[in-house]
Amino acid sequence: MTHPPVPLGTFPTPLEPAPRLAAELGLGPEDLWVKRDDLTGLGGGGNKIRKLEWTVGAALAEGADTLVTTGAAQSNHARLTAAAGARLGLDVVLVLRGAAGASRSGNLALDGLFGARLAWAGDVDRAGLDAAAAGVCDRLRATGARPALIPFGGSGTLGARGYVRCGEELRARVPDLRTAVVALGSGGTMAGLVAALGTGSVLGVDVGALADPAAAVVAFAAPLTSEAVTAERLRVRRDQVGAGYAALTEPVTEALRLAARTEGIVLDPTYTGRALAGLRAAVRDGSVRPGEKTVFVHTGGLPGLFGHADAVAAAEEGAGVY
Ligand SMILES: Cc1ncc(COP(=O)(O)O)c(C=O)c1O
Repeated sequence: MTHPPVPLGTFPTPLEPAPRLAAELGLGPEDLWVKRDDLTGLGGGGNKIRKLEWTVGAALAEGADTLVTTGAAQSNHARLTAAAGARLGLDVVLVLRGAAGASRSGNLALDGLFGARLAWAGDVDRAGLDAAAAGVCDRLRATGARPALIPFGGSGTLGARGYVRCGEELRARVPDLRTAVVALGSGGTMAGLVAALGTGSVLGVDVGALADPAAAVVAFAAPLTSEAVTAERLRVRRDQVGAGYAALTEPVTEALRLAARTEGIVLDPTYTGRALAGLRAAVRDGSVRPGEKTVFVHTGGLPGLFGHADAVAAAEEGAGVY
């Protein structure tokens, strides 16, 4: 049974023209729009709010008093789960990859501000992280708490419903939309957009969080649409991962500067920076063309910039000397 979503964000998010960025990319001045899903309101904003409205809605309906979720140390999803818990008066335990003593800036600083408790899982793979979260839930239950486990990245068919709504917002504002470009991490964001807009209208730029991100998108999107969603039909780029999820690449450094200096928009080094680098590559290889309406879905992640030492250094180096 699907429970109703709990309102957490501010919707619809703005849709802004980006003519100076369009020109730099080689697109026409009216071709490129930015869907400001970094401005979803709660907890610093970002795409995870739309998913949390559904996953936390289900947790509340089941009588949970504690939210448990998993992620990387700089997980935006974990930060926004902490914010959602604070907003709703729920306890939050974040099960994070790595060890205590890692940098406490960026998302980790906000996790603390929102009052979340952290459980460090060590240098584990995805199965190890899930096992650590299951152990945390068992221990919480043993003390009388009622935990609800929110999936990794908030992704699943339930969380993806939040992005069906985003797709509907886009369709209403840009009826001739050709391509919505979005970062592809755990898959739920792209899945919801695919369900609303169709496989041919969404370009996902893989960030290297999953071994097979297309499979995740197929699994989450299929129950939400009558289209036969297959990995072959999805538009996915895997050329922006570089040395891996946490690594800063030169195209991403350039993309961060480009968005900042043409439109005053801040991207993050892990997700949205890769998405813009992927859009740039797509224009270069002709898979996104001038004259077509393109929407760049800005999914947030600003705190992650401050949690990434290399990205902060690259940003600082960009300052001129007067
Ligand atoms: C800022 C940001 N953008 C995009 C994504 C990717 O979304 P998804 O995990 O639904 O693929 C994430 C996920 O962690 C994110 O934090």
